[in-house]
Amino acid sequence: MDTAIAPSAAPLAPRGIIRRLQSRKGREDPFSLFEEIRSAGPVVSLGPHALLVTGYTECLQILTDRIWHVPDSTWRAARGLTTEGLRATILDTLPRLNPPRHGQMRRMQSGPFTPAALERLRPTVRTLVRTHLDRLEAELNEHGRADFIDTVARALPVAVMCKILGLPAEDRALIARYSLETAVLTEPFADPAQTAAADAAAAEFHAYVMALLDQRARTPAADLMSQCLSHGHSSTERVPREELAAHIVFLAGAGVETTSSLVATAVQVFENHPDQALWLAAHPESVHQAIEELTRWDPSVQNAVRVPAQDTTLAGTPVPAGTLVHALLAAANRDPAHFPDPHTLDFRRPPQRSLAFGAGTHYCLGAPLARLNAAELLPELLRRFPGLRTAGPATRAPGLNLRTFVTLPVTLPVTRPQPVVAL
Ligand code: HEM
Repeated sequence: MDTAIAPSAAPLAPRGIIRRLQSRKGREDPFSLFEEIRSAGPVVSLGPHALLVTGYTECLQILTDRIWHVPDSTWRAARGLTTEGLRATILDTLPRLNPPRHGQMRRMQSGPFTPAALERLRPTVRTLVRTHLDRLEAELNEHGRADFIDTVARALPVAVMCKILGLPAEDRALIARYSLETAVLTEPFADPAQTAAADAAAAEFHAYVMALLDQRARTPAADLMSQCLSHGHSSTERVPREELAAHIVFLAGAGVETTSSLVATAVQVFENHPDQALWLAAHPESVHQAIEELTRWDPSVQNAVRVPAQDTTLAGTPVPAGTLVHALLAAANRDPAHFPDPHTLDFRRPPQRSLAFGAGTHYCLGAPLARLNAAELLPELLRRFPGLRTAGPATRAPGLNLRTFVTLPVTLPVTRPQPVVAL
């Protein structure tokens, strides 16, 4: 994969852009920084071997064209970035696997995410939504405020993922902690201290899942862990148990932090865009359209990384094989060349495919589940808590890839708002 053409001739990225994106201000509003990058060009250079891409067309090309691969263990080894032991096992999960292994491992885990399986899960999600909103109500009644992340945004997807994967319901608080602490694993610019903390949490989570897999090997149940074990025993695609556990660890984190960010963003949006909240409250049947717009406008996953397997070009810029390219999905979703008036959030916007859930081979496995959770939760949240307000600034975990919330304090105003009038 060594370079045959010159390092990229792309314009330089704005000065200190990664540091600024990672700052507190940048995490609160990365979008003005994405515009700064866009004004330098659709493809900009982050150094001799890395590029940032903001254009919708270019990001789609990177995600769907077969010459683009994910940076896997072979790519890492070629750059002296070899990771060993458990860290390597945990990193080598779906987003860092290329064909044919990627397809085999994806098939192994896809059972719970089919339309039929999700339809069967819907009543469970509906019950869990009610339980978590009851809990929010109790917290608000008792203390006048609550942490929306702890009470609902992270707690609900944790409960749903525990059900799907087969993790014990009594361990939900532990899974919530693991999911937050391991989120940094997918961050391309994490510092060594953050990486070490995420590695430690991942090792603990992995050991926990290994013990559960041992139990399931003795007593199978109707859950994804048991399905993976039986798949792992088939003679053609034998999967070591350490690897199975790594897939479960990744899936749990991917299923929780992304959905948590989506529904927490919705709470902020309902407060800051009351016209949109009123419209959705009056048109709950349009919740799927609202979710598409919400995830276009402020997606939980902002970035996807790829490397070309051969020399190529991107928007006319030469890209040598092996160059690490960051497809800034959140910037692509606001590309004015693709989305008219892209910075305006409009639930009535005619559906147009955004890159919030990626595209191509690595298209988000859990997208239909994220949509199911949000579609069950958001109309109920608006119906039961029409006046819900934030009671202080949100805190977010560091990171460019995931828009992880740590806390989001909420409260209810003393006077109840007027009933919603249909628009
Ligand atoms: C709002 C919610 C979500 C968003 C915005 C989101 C976004 C994404 C994106 C952009 C990718 C593609 C990454 C790439 O191309 O490199 C992805 C992949 C993935 N997501 Fe999600 N996701 C969400 C929810 C979920 C849920 C609920 C689950 C699991 C239950 C999940 C599991 C995965 C997995 C396993 C992959 C890797 C797929 C592969 O490489 O084949 N995600 N997600």
